[in-house]
This record gives sequence, structure tokens and C-alpha cells, in this order.
Amino acid sequence: MISDEKIQEVRDRADIVELISSYLTLKKAGANYQGLCPFHGEKTPSFNVNPARQTFHCFGCGVGGDVFGFLMRMDGLSFPEAIVEMGKKLGIEVEQRKITPAEEKRQREKEVLFRINEVAAEFFHGVLMEKSEGSGALAYLQRRGYSSETARQFQIGFAPPGWTGLVRHLEEKGFQTETCRKLGLTRAGKTGKGDYDFFRNRLIFPVINSNGKVIAFGGRVLDESLPKYINSPETDVYRKAQTLYGLYQGRDAIRRSGECILVEGYFDLLAVAGAGFENVAATCGTALTSEHVRLLRRYTQRVLLLFDQDQAGQKAAFRGMEVLLKEGLSVAMVLLEAGEDPDSYLKKRGKDAFQKRLEDARPALAVFMESVLRDHGEGSESRARAVEVILGKLKLLNSSVERRLYLQELAEKTGLDVSFLQSGGKEAASGRKVPSPPPRKSAALHSRPHLGEGPELKSQNLLLLLLAIDAEIRRRVVEKGTEKVFADEERRSLADLLLNLDGNLMNSEEAISVLELTDSQKKIVTEIFRQDLMAFADVRAEIFRDCCIAVDLQQRKKRTKELTRLINEAEKTGDNSNRTAYLAEKTELDRRR
Ligand code: UTP
Ligand code: MN
Repeated sequence: MISDEKIQEVRDRADIVELISSYLTLKKAGANYQGLCPFHGEKTPSFNVNPARQTFHCFGCGVGGDVFGFLMRMDGLSFPEAIVEMGKKLGIEVEQRKITPAEEKRQREKEVLFRINEVAAEFFHGVLMEKSEGSGALAYLQRRGYSSETARQFQIGFAPPGWTGLVRHLEEKGFQTETCRKLGLTRAGKTGKGDYDFFRNRLIFPVINSNGKVIAFGGRVLDESLPKYINSPETDVYRKAQTLYGLYQGRDAIRRSGECILVEGYFDLLAVAGAGFENVAATCGTALTSEHVRLLRRYTQRVLLLFDQDQAGQKAAFRGMEVLLKEGLSVAMVLLEAGEDPDSYLKKRGKDAFQKRLEDARPALAVFMESVLRDHGEGSESRARAVEVILGKLKLLNSSVERRLYLQELAEKTGLDVSFLQSGGKEAASGRKVPSPPPRKSAALHSRPHLGEGPELKSQNLLLLLLAIDAEIRRRVVEKGTEKVFADEERRSLADLLLNLDGNLMNSEEAISVLELTDSQKKIVTEIFRQDLMAFADVRAEIFRDCCIAVDLQQRKKRTKELTRLINEAEKTGDNSNRTAYLAEKTELDRRR
């Protein structure tokens, strides 16, 4: 418990440039600083630090925050830990509110519980690796393709079949029977009999929390008997809704790669990590919770859901998607052949095929939308219900641009009108028949305020600014071609000039002196550098999409105009077959708009 005043004091005294400079090299760039992002691999700097705001942001991987956020990510600390750590660096004593004797007692008890788990994990691991009792389990692991290297890395163990192996070991170490029972490792025997082991004749997976402490165990049988797995109960040190298996081992890789592969099971995790994809964590038999997600969010903004490719797995994946979206993360789904899980897939097809699947991961909502539409079938009643379900999920997106794109896609897939969908599909929700689309004219009127000139130019201006200051963005725009992202001609030619730049431009004076600009381009340049870069730091993808939409819209407008002219001409010359073709094309364009 740290007082608000203390937090404020540390925040006020801290300097983000100084802090981050002790981890990586920063170079001054205008009013800000730039460097190579420590949270994802990159060769050109897209990591920005703003001393005025005392914030950082990476344009490459999207992470950002203040001094505490930086320490939390960088050192994997919790918020209070980050405050204490920052305080230490500044020589400020951060006294945590005095803990009461009762709290102190509980703390001490917890430490004993951690210690017992640690001793138990060592015991199980020792049996697996060194004792003859463990040879069957080791062979089982090897049969499934896992080396003793993996066993060591995850401290996998074996619980011997006798009833008291662990009980006696813990007794010898001097732990009290009562305390051991609290962890669920041992159970009280019938009256007159001693305690017995909970895990027997099972392969053991120790579960480790973000401080590196063993907090629970999962145990798998070596054959087909049931239950396949048993797990530690919830205890004072273990809450399954707050624990992800493998996160402790994978967190650096997750941070570096900018994404976390999320799987369902212990073996899936071993398989994925063992194949070299170390940025992985597992839910282990519980539904993904918002607490899980907040834990993940310390390390990444993006999750690749890789659940079993059966009905249960897909259902769990869609539920997971919902939780992740609610917490503001981006979610993609990795699809494998039906019936596979990551473990079986890797065994059958190998790393390269797996890598390809990861690259082909699709936005979870797109997968969801398709699956809902497919499952609900054709009738207008059921389609209305499908639309209702999809609209419910689209609400979770916090990017309005993204929402709009999905609405467009939904409109195209269902033949419903975008403006009708935008209104929340009111009629659909009440279960009435889906109305036929309103007359075209009104549809066009409805969409104009959203795709009108204002936002179009704004996005293009923001993109121009990014072009001036960020080499990564320049590369991306070169890849796409300026004609694909700049609808406005003046801005497009300005973009072409910026793309020929070698370094970054940090202010309008510099830009105007370096580039040969027309008067109106000078105005644009002056305007764009007035923008605060940090204010739209995390909407880069939206800016790109907005720009692309603008181009698309403009092309359709142009073609519509042309078609109007062609139709008139055809009417005059009595060219009926051409007139019909032009009319059809125009109708289609209007509909799509
Ligand atoms: P799976 O049945 O998919 O197991 O359950 P798995 O990890 O693929 O294991 P193998 O490949 O069959 O050996 C996924 C996860 O659900 C939890 C476990 O955490 C498991 O890894 N689970 C499953 C249980 O807790 N209890 C069970 O009885 C089954
Ligand atoms: Mn499996």
C-alpha cells in the first residue's frame, strides 16, 4: 500500500529520458528523443520519448506509457514494485503503509507455502530425472518428442506411485503436516492413518508465478486413464484466474516479439516453446479471464489465439477473444486442420508449416463473423439473429475506424445496408424481418458525414507527419505506393518528396528549407507540424486505413462521375446495350458506397 502523495512525489521527481537512457541509447530528435525499441526487434528507431509529457511510445509495436509503465514492462514489475524501484533510483524512500501484525503473519505463512512448493517441485523433478521410479515417465516424455532439456527448462517432474513419497520427503524437511495440506499436495488420511500424497503416478508440471515462485502443480497420467489431469486446488498462493502457465519462462520472448501465442494445454505450451516459438503462454483448463489479460498486457498488446481445433476449442477461443478485446488488446486466431492441437500439429507438420500458420493468423473478429454467419444459415430470421450477435461483438472494438470496416464487410456479406447496421440493426434486434435496404439516395447521405472530406484530409495530414519523422512508415508507404494511400493530389506529391528523404525532419522550418514546395504545400507542412505526435501515437493503423478508404472512395466517386457522363452520352446516341452496362455498374458502385 503506497500513498497517493508518495506516488505523485516519485512521478514528479522522475525523468523519463534519464530512466530510459539507462536502458538504451536515446538520440535527440526535435523536441523528443528516439531510440531502438527494447520491446520488439528493430533496426531503425521507432521508439519515441517525450520529455514534456514524460511518456514513451513505440510506433513499431505500439507500446507506450509513463515511467512506471516503462519499468513494469522492462523489468516485469507490478505497479507498486515499479514505484518502489523508481523511488530507489531517485533515493526516495517509498514506505509501504505499515503492515499490521496480522498481515505480517500471513506474509510469513505465504513464504512457507512458497518454500514447500519449491521443495516439492525439486522432489518431483529429481524423481523424473534421476530415480529409477521416474524412468517410465521420462520415456513417456521422450516418446512424445520432448528432450530432458525441455524437462529441465520447465522443471517437469514425476510423482511416484507410492502413497507417501512426497509426504515423507516434506516431513524430513521439517514442514508441518497442516501447512502441507493447505497446498493440496498432501491429504489427511482416515483416522489412525497418516497423510497421503495427492499427486501419484503422474507427470508433474509446476506452475510458476511472475515472481518466479512455484504456486501450483498439474499432473498428467501416463496412460489413457481418467481423469487425464489433476491440478492443485486454489490456495493462498494460487488463483487460477490470475495465472498463466509458462508466462514466467516466456515473458522476455513475448516482449521482444510483440505478441503472445496463447494455447490451452501444458503439452501445447511445451511443443510450441520447444519448437523455438518461446513467446507462448497457456490457460490450462480454465477460461481466459480479464485478470489473465491484464497480466499479459504487461508484456504485449497482441495475442494469437491457438486453441484446439475442435468445437470446444473454438468456443473457448471466441470467449477469449471477447475478454481480450474488452481489455483493448488486438486478437488474431491461428487456424489448424480440424481435430489438431498445436502439439499434434507440430509433430506432424514441423516448424516451418507452423510458422506459416502463425503468419496466416487472421483477425479474430473476422473469423468470428464468418463463423456466426455460417452457423446461422440463410433465412432472414436467423440472419437477423446472426447480425445481432455480430453487432454485439463489434461494440467491443475501441477503434471506430476498425468498427466501420467490419460493418462494411458485414454489409457486403449480408446484403444489408451499412447505415442500417450502424443504427445497431434495431429491427434485427427486435427479431422482426430484416427490411430491404432503404433507397440508395438516403444511404449515400447517411455515410457522407463519416467518410466526408474533413477526416479524410486529417488522416492524410497525420500520415504525412509520420512520413517526415519515421523511417519505418516511409518504408511501408513505399511498399504500398503513394497512389494507394493518398487520395489528395497535393498531399500525394508532398509524400513523394518526403519519401526521397534520407533522414527525419523534425519541424516545419526544416522541411520548408530542405524541400522544394509550392505555396499550398508549405501551408500543409506548417499545419502538420503543429500536431502533437504523441496525441495520435497509437492510431497509426487507423490512419493508414482511413487513408486507404479515402483513396477507394475517391476512385469510386471519379468513376461514378464518369459513368454519369457515359450514360448521358449513350442515351443521346441511342446505344442501349452500353447504357445498360453503365447503369448496372453505377448502381453497383452506389450500393457499395
Ligand atoms: P487437453 O485435453 O487438450 O490436454 O486439455 P493436452 O494439454 O493437449 O494434453 P495431451 O496432449 O492430451 O497430453 C488442455 C488443458 O486442460 C487442462 C490441462 O491444463 C490441459 O493441459 N485439463 C484437461 C485439466 O485440467 N484436466 C483434465 O482432465 C483435462
Ligand atoms: Mn494435446
